[in-house]
Amino acid sequence: MAIDSATLVNAARTVRAHAHARYSNYLVGAAILDDSGNIYVGCNVENASFSETSCAEANAIGAMVSSGAGKIVAIAIVGGLGDKDGSTMFENAGEIGACTPCGGCRQRILEFSDESTQIMLVDNDGAMQVFSIDDLLPSAFRVE
Ligand code: THU
Repeated sequence: MAIDSATLVNAARTVRAHAHARYSNYLVGAAILDDSGNIYVGCNVENASFSETSCAEANAIGAMVSSGAGKIVAIAIVGGLGDKDGSTMFENAGEIGACTPCGGCRQRILEFSDESTQIMLVDNDGAMQVFSIDDLLPSAFRVE
């Protein structure tokens, strides 16, 4: 399936603006393209009881599965520290230069991916790096 990365990244950027991140100010948007060509989005939703926070990727996957879809062709992730208070996005980016999915979300992405799934990490300037799930989660736990 052809992947319109600009549309997918734009969807992730748009949903990122809805992030409820009042405790960390770390705003994340994720957009999934499934094998039927549909797009599902999610943002992070924080909670005063911190462990009840859900990640953007988890919410996008929940939307995808709830709609009956089963395979991630591509997922775009846009995230970083919010700029509402003047802080700079991607301050915590590390060597990748964009928000990388947390360990739990790597496992969640794996569940609905195969070796061709494209995981697109996009920085604030629009620069994109694309990974496979094996790049991000080698020797992954699976139940066949
Ligand atoms: N976050 C995500 O939404 N996805 C990730 O993969 C990394 C972390 C969110 C959770 C929390 O709201 C904030 O980023 C800081 O951890």
